[in-house]
Amino acid sequence: MQKDKIKVMSVFGTRPEATKMGPLVKVLEKDDAFSSIVCVTAQHRGMLDEVLEIFDIKPDYDLDIMKEGQSLEYITTSALNGLCKVIDEAKPDLLLVHGDTTTSFAGSLAAFYRGVKLGHVEAGLRSYDKLRPYPEEMNRKLTGVLADIHFAPTHKAKENLYKENINPNDIFVTGNTAVDCVKDSFKDNFIFKRDILNDIDYKGKKIITVTAHRRENLGEPLENICKALRIIADENDDVLVIYPVHPNPAVKNTVYSILSEIKGIYLTEALDFVDLHNLMARSYLILTDSGGLQEEAPAFNKPVLVLREVTERPEGLDAGTLKLAGTDKDIIVKMTNELLKNPSEYNRMAMAKNPFGDGFASKRIAEIIKYCFKIIDKRPDDFK
Ligand code: UD1
Repeated sequence: MQKDKIKVMSVFGTRPEATKMGPLVKVLEKDDAFSSIVCVTAQHRGMLDEVLEIFDIKPDYDLDIMKEGQSLEYITTSALNGLCKVIDEAKPDLLLVHGDTTTSFAGSLAAFYRGVKLGHVEAGLRSYDKLRPYPEEMNRKLTGVLADIHFAPTHKAKENLYKENINPNDIFVTGNTAVDCVKDSFKDNFIFKRDILNDIDYKGKKIITVTAHRRENLGEPLENICKALRIIADENDDVLVIYPVHPNPAVKNTVYSILSEIKGIYLTEALDFVDLHNLMARSYLILTDSGGLQEEAPAFNKPVLVLREVTERPEGLDAGTLKLAGTDKDIIVKMTNELLKNPSEYNRMAMAKNPFGDGFASKRIAEIIKYCFKIIDKRPDDFK
């Protein structure tokens, strides 16, 4: 008799969750052991849709919750209400959430309220600072408390979960799915969707790609970052700064007011991940407060200066792929100049091994789900 398929419902709502869940959804769709259901909250709209289109994912459910100036409680309650209804209708065997967004937390709570098993992809990251990143540190901790299966991307993340007394049998080390799609998106002679990136003359230039839009960096920290970028562009004729700007008005207003019309600085709309990966590949250096870029840039052998005071990705600090630059203007300028002018330090960072993944995380996760649902007997090996 044919075994029933495992009904797996993947829930996500923002651009980076879609980027990192996309490869996994595609693996689940292709595998006969699973019936794959996708529910998006659309906590992000435009940026989410761009990623769905690239992966050719047509969500089975779309809660369409985004509104301008949305509060955390609005995101939580509207996603929670919608998700409980969807679970009642779709009756999944397993619900998957990713990382640390408010959508992930609401999805975890919905699974708990409806008695559905919960799998947490990118589990176990910790900064141990409740307010940085805010609200992500709490979102991921709360999700960890509720999850039944923990897909930790690295051994450090697994150890963090051990310390919280999570049953070791429920923790699996998978690598990060962010690295899975890097292999597919890079192309020689790539033509960008955003025309401004095709018009830039890259020859003889050192490109610095910048992204910064975290909630805890809004206001003065973001102003300091922008002022530092102005100084870097002014002091280095061979540098071009390219900054894809998040659509949040609180980000856009600050960035455009400080960096518009400055020689050597290009501001663009936010990029989808294929454009972003190809821009990273042409870059000399990445300055970012994003988590995903910290994982992806080392796959292109690009050093990262992290525009935050703490990172929940210390593997990159240990491996030498990342350095913490914080949000102090003078320190950002000093650390950037050091990498621009000191080739041996630059090469040391660029050549460090990527500790975040090997491109097979999604396949591992699919096998782990089969193991947890007793389709296969052997516990899959951890990512080393
Ligand atoms: C969200 C997540 C954060 C994640 C980040 C990745 C929360 C609370 N925040 O932060 O964990 O790291 O996504 O990008 O879960 N907007 C648009 N168009 C879009 C997307 C956003 O206009 O396509 C605007 C909206 O006005 C929205 C604002 O951006 O109100 C902020 O979006 P929100 O999802 O609340 O926070 P992010 O900073 O994007």
